[in-house]
Amino acid sequence: MKCLVTGGAGLIGSHIVDKLLEKGHEVVILDNLDSQTHPNGKPDWIPKEANFIEGDVNNYDDVKKALKEGVDSISHQAAFGGFTNSISYYFDVNTSGTAKIFEVIREENIEINKFVMASSQAIFGEGLYNSKELGNFHPEPRSVEQLKKKKWEVICPSSGEEAKPVPFSENLEPYGVSPYALSKYFEEMIGLAFGKTYGIPVAALRYAVTYGPRQSVYNPYTGVFSIFSSMIVNNLSPLIFEDGNQTRDFIFVGDVADANVTLLESNLDSQQPFNVGTGNPTKVIDLASSLCKELNSNVKPKISEEFRYGDSRHFIHDSSKLKEYKWEPKYSIEDGIKKYTDWFKTQEDVKTTFPEASEGLRKIGVIQSSD
Ligand SMILES: NC(=O)c1ccc[n+]([C@@H]2O[C@H](COP(=O)([O-])OP(=O)(O)OC[C@H]3O[C@@H](n4cnc5c(N)ncnc54)[C@H](O)[C@@H]3O)[C@@H](O)[C@H]2O)c1
Repeated sequence: MKCLVTGGAGLIGSHIVDKLLEKGHEVVILDNLDSQTHPNGKPDWIPKEANFIEGDVNNYDDVKKALKEGVDSISHQAAFGGFTNSISYYFDVNTSGTAKIFEVIREENIEINKFVMASSQAIFGEGLYNSKELGNFHPEPRSVEQLKKKKWEVICPSSGEEAKPVPFSENLEPYGVSPYALSKYFEEMIGLAFGKTYGIPVAALRYAVTYGPRQSVYNPYTGVFSIFSSMIVNNLSPLIFEDGNQTRDFIFVGDVADANVTLLESNLDSQQPFNVGTGNPTKVIDLASSLCKELNSNVKPKISEEFRYGDSRHFIHDSSKLKEYKWEPKYSIEDGIKKYTDWFKTQEDVKTTFPEASEGLRKIGVIQSSD
């Protein structure tokens, strides 16, 4: 394969690049070195063997230049993420940028055999829940009124009891309300629909929360491992929204990169979404405590009881569909935390801009206080 990896300088893209090269494929990277993620420019982990093109996925000529390198497959990872003060920019990069790639493919008559794209669990808003009265149900996002009263758990709308999270498959309805969630949902729809229109097999990978070495230590808006770690090494308590008992299905970046390469090399011949998670939830408070311990700090996590409307309470991925392609997550959360912190300790003079960034988000109501 000669594979274009968009966003190939970033966390997930860079690990996909390494795996493709390891397996003897050729790689072209298109990445605009977004300043929030890469304030010091091109990171040193971009291999010489990859053809690196600095450019924007939402720029026709940049995408054309990358695709005209003889590319026959695409791993589309470039995106703008997290909870920030932007709205429209999510759609410029994630939605319009994805549409632009298909536009160039069509206009320039480029034959693409496989298109694997990064979707996100965020498109669902909330995970799947179970209550005695309703059985399994997919709730709307928890309301601001509920969250203000510190009622953090999802409530069964029929009985008023707390509902229990259960694993969800690919059939869950999208319910995301944040600009990121909506833009990723439209991105996925564009990929699946245009793949069908132009006869390109497409896999939309709905990643769980992904972490690992190379997660930007500069971006205060996304990447909980780096946000917490950079606060800890600056002797600040990692700030935890809600009560800390919310869970995430944290997946190690090597497993996500494997999922991409597995599908790029597969015989997939249709357009399909796939969950990519471990199925093992971890409490956010436990993650913060483990990071404090692994970074040899006496700092303790701080529960803020603040919240972000549209944030999920629990997500547990059922990735059985992807396992049919012989993919299996290999890293436990303990191994992954160790690998991440070993790398983080090699990063020099890490600062944190989270306190100022979160103050800005409070002013515009993205972060809200409970009563
Ligand atoms: N990390 C997660 O927890 C997670 C979870 C679900 C989905 N995803 C998705 O996975 C993909 C990769 O995420 P990541 O965690 O590696 O993020 P990242 O920020 O580390 O990498 C994204 C890369 O895309 C580049 N980029 C941003 N805008 C661009 C543009 N307009 N044109 C070209 N390049 C651009 C950035 O410079 C960066 O190198 C994204 O599509 C993201 O939405 C990530």
